[in-house]
Amino acid sequence: MKKQWIGLLACLYACLAWQCTSKKKEETQTTKEESVTPSYTKEHVVPEKVSKIAFGSCGYQDEPQPILQLAAEQNPDVFVFLGDNIYGDTKNMDTLRNKYKRLGAKEEFKNLSQSAHILATWDDHDYGWNDAGRHYPFKKESKEIFLDFWKAPADDIRHQREGIYTSTYFEAEGKTVQFILLDLRTFRDDLRKYEGQEVDTTKFHYGLDYWPYETADSTLMGTGQWLWLEEQLSIPADLRIVCSSSQFGITYNGYEAWANFPHEQQKLLDLIQKTQANGVMFISGDVHYAELSKLEREDNYPIYDLTSSGITSKWDFATPNDNRIAGAIMENHYGLIEIDWNPEDPVIHLKIVDINKEVRIHEQIKLSEIHYDKL
Ligand SMILES: [Fe+2]
Repeated sequence: MKKQWIGLLACLYACLAWQCTSKKKEETQTTKEESVTPSYTKEHVVPEKVSKIAFGSCGYQDEPQPILQLAAEQNPDVFVFLGDNIYGDTKNMDTLRNKYKRLGAKEEFKNLSQSAHILATWDDHDYGWNDAGRHYPFKKESKEIFLDFWKAPADDIRHQREGIYTSTYFEAEGKTVQFILLDLRTFRDDLRKYEGQEVDTTKFHYGLDYWPYETADSTLMGTGQWLWLEEQLSIPADLRIVCSSSQFGITYNGYEAWANFPHEQQKLLDLIQKTQANGVMFISGDVHYAELSKLEREDNYPIYDLTSSGITSKWDFATPNDNRIAGAIMENHYGLIEIDWNPEDPVIHLKIVDINKEVRIHEQIKLSEIHYDKL
């Protein structure tokens, strides 16, 4: 009897010891897995090297668009439409669809589509309404029209989630150029109206529409897009072109811009720092002229924002912008980024080319200037 008890106890002990060891093994395995760099899904991958990127915004669908023809003649690898790609301004979805059709029927648009990969995001007028945000009542219908016109395949992730934000990776010969296309309409809270707050009237000689939020309880991008963006910035890339319909790098000017949501503008800068994302620069549209802004950051690389907004549109004056380092260019134009990958430290040419084929802005930066490992 006693022997049987001893045997049973020994068996129980062995069993417990085995369980303990295997649990430890599991724990070790989990720790190991967690320490591995997460690999996120790249939404669109094109196995090509990108050296020439053209872009623009604000084209009226019922006017000739010679700027698109000039851009096509450059044979860019990619052309990015940065919003106001048509002036929809309607709550009738047949009208919206027809206006896209009129853009699609243009020879210059067809030529450009044949000579370059086309990427697109929207701004207010092609989303549907001037300065519209998340309360625009036809945002779901407008999104399907957008995805249809810009030829998103049936299995495109954008069909399954809210909004039209997405990313595309061009990868070849060991070089990756990542395009991050933001959606600044679907989730944007109402803007805060300007209500006569005191300003420097010598600087702001025109009517101001909006005033920046002073608390962090409003959003431009929305929670889901913020989480997605963090993921995107964590994926390795040599150069990242953040495509933003509104200007990112400018100072407050009373019109639509990231500056109306200073807490989210700062959040993006903090996210670049947190993810140690290399090679981030912005391209933007919206304002009907061109300029280059440089947002300097202490102990961090500067953020360039090259604005091109004049496929057909024009504006009478450029608003004050403390970060402007080139421009403003008031004639119709397109933006051009050329990357010379040959030097050990690749060179990026940031250009604005006008309707007369004249290069009006040309700023040259080295890739290392916007990389953490070279700071
Ligand atoms: Fe516009």
